[in-house]
Amino acid sequence: MTNLLEAKHVKKVFGETVVLRDVSLVVNKGEVVVIMGPSGTGKSTFLRTINFLEFPDGGEIIFDGEKMKKDPNVLRRARAKISFVSQSYNLFPHMKALKNVVYPLVKVKKVGKIEARDQAIEMLNRVGLSDKLNSYPGELSGGQKQRVAIARAMAMRPDLILFDEPTSALDPEMTAEVLSVMKELADSGTTMIVVTHEMNFARYAADRIVFMDDGVVMEESGPEEFFISPKTEKALKFMARLS
Ligand SMILES: Nc1ncnc2c1ncn2[C@@H]1O[C@H](COP(=O)(O)OP(=O)(O)O)[C@@H](O)[C@H]1O
Ligand SMILES: [Mg+2]
Repeated sequence: MTNLLEAKHVKKVFGETVVLRDVSLVVNKGEVVVIMGPSGTGKSTFLRTINFLEFPDGGEIIFDGEKMKKDPNVLRRARAKISFVSQSYNLFPHMKALKNVVYPLVKVKKVGKIEARDQAIEMLNRVGLSDKLNSYPGELSGGQKQRVAIARAMAMRPDLILFDEPTSALDPEMTAEVLSVMKELADSGTTMIVVTHEMNFARYAADRIVFMDDGVVMEESGPEEFFISPKTEKALKFMARLS
């Protein structure tokens, strides 16, 4: 396996608060890594340092063989290969679902309009939204909006998709439909890092679980191992609270 991402001793400080103390993680191509942990422990911050939406204060990020730095060319290259799906969808409200997917393909990837449209339709089909191409975000349910966001992320054909609690704003039914799309993505070999509290997704889709607490990786295990016999007391307590 080739490694796609390597985070080495990443540190991030906001004012007086040390949010990431020393986070190291290697993600191989095709792997699905789930990050779990109590809120406020730096999971979102860590995801954001991966594509340098936050600049780390220490350590380094190596993505696809290249060390990330504050150089516009390096950032553009990396960000063209990394998609981000957040809790809040971030769709353009004045664009129909189809346009939401087409737009970044044309603007960022410089794909021709006709081809972009074909690719967008294909992706929206894959997430089960072929009948919503002409709906505005305001006309879609939360689960449908999130599936548009995932279709948009997939359409960019990224090497890595980062998901930050993609279902935490959704009710159980919508959560299930979004998780099923994500599970399919995971099975298709997409490299994913997913911050989620969804234990079933973690259990059945993850190759590895990373448990973070207080700005460090407390443990890293296969899903079976993590859920059946976590190595740390903190992980055990965390799971007891979830279930
Ligand atoms: N831009 C920011 N400025 C100041 N503090 C921040 C910022 N982003 C996050 N934090 C703080 O960093 C800590 C970790 O936040 P976050 O990464 O969102 O944790 P998690 O995703 O695990 O809930 C929190 O205490 C949060 O208040
Ligand atoms: Mg978060």
